Amino acid sequence: MQKILFLTGGLGFAGKHYYKTYKNRWDKIIVYDKCTYASDITFFKKYKRRKDTLIKGDVCDFKKLYKSVPTKSYVIHFAAESHVDNSFSTSLIFTKTNSLGTHTLLEVCRLKKNIKITIISTDEVYGETRNIIKNEKSILEPTNPYSASKTSADIISQTYFKCYKMPISIVRANNLYGDYQYVEKIIPATVNAINDGKKLRIHGKGASIRNFLHIDDFVSAVHLITFKSKNGEIFNVKGKFKIKIIDLIKKLSKISNKKVSKFSKFVKDRPFNDFTYNISDKKIKLLGWKEKKNFNNEIKKILEKNLVFK
Ligand SMILES: NC(=O)c1ccc[n+]([C@@H]2O[C@H](COP(=O)([O-])OP(=O)(O)OC[C@H]3O[C@@H](n4cnc5c(N)ncnc54)[C@H](O)[C@@H]3O)[C@@H](O)[C@H]2O)c1
Repeated sequence: MQKILFLTGGLGFAGKHYYKTYKNRWDKIIVYDKCTYASDITFFKKYKRRKDTLIKGDVCDFKKLYKSVPTKSYVIHFAAESHVDNSFSTSLIFTKTNSLGTHTLLEVCRLKKNIKITIISTDEVYGETRNIIKNEKSILEPTNPYSASKTSADIISQTYFKCYKMPISIVRANNLYGDYQYVEKIIPATVNAINDGKKLRIHGKGASIRNFLHIDDFVSAVHLITFKSKNGEIFNVKGKFKIKIIDLIKKLSKISNKKVSKFSKFVKDRPFNDFTYNISDKKIKLLGWKEKKNFNNEIKKILEKNLVFK
């Protein structure tokens, strides 16, 4: 039987790297993407195989999805509105794409039958975690419109597994980074400010702490989960490198030998900014996943080669 993948959000940061690294493990891949500002068509075209197809479509469009999703296939669902900052001003778009879009996709898969689904969630569904470590059974307490929309997608996916016994797995990862991430995210934004003079806006005092997970390590976890997880399982994926945002900016300033004040300015913090997310990655490690990338080496390469998608 042919191994067919329906890859939503395949032009975004995670989707394009998944495609680049794992395309040859599939007989055919259909990329389904709305082509928003975050989509990187140039990157995709560079690696595209002739037999694969790109469909421009919205995950909220039931009819188009129904026509596009093949039966007896796999779905990896990366498509999302992913930038937390934007969610404070345009939260309805986040709820529509992230919550309703995921529900629509699940419903299409339910009707089509025989589809194995990997849902990409986030560590932000746990909400702020200061002194405790969250595992996959911890309660979900989102604190911003982005994480609320992702939490609802996560819960609807769990429900589809419970009600319809559909083969669904869920992946909750830390902050991602790597080559050609869109310039809105903190690492490419800092690199862009240093290399191209666009002022970086630092929220509050930059006091929040984040773990960073390299995109290659993330997509290897997604691939492993797609093939090795049991139906209904949820996995946290953690990057062990942890840093305060202001220290991250200072680190990049030191490597580039440019003063922080030269390329950045402090702005009012978000209405709510989670201090940190402590997640346990015991379960994915038991499945055989290992983090391989070294943060310091990777960050240096991104900065020196200016590997930013703008
Ligand atoms: N970036 C991170 O740090 C991070 C961390 C944890 C989890 N995640 C999750 O990983 C997934 C991928 O994130 P990313 O960083 O690649 O996001 P991204 O913003 O880089 O890419 C999202 C892609 O989805 C597409 N898209 C947006 N709305 C769509 C719609 N309505 N229909 C179809 N396609 C649509 C966009 O065109 C884009 O190509 C998301 O589900 C995100 O919530 C991201």
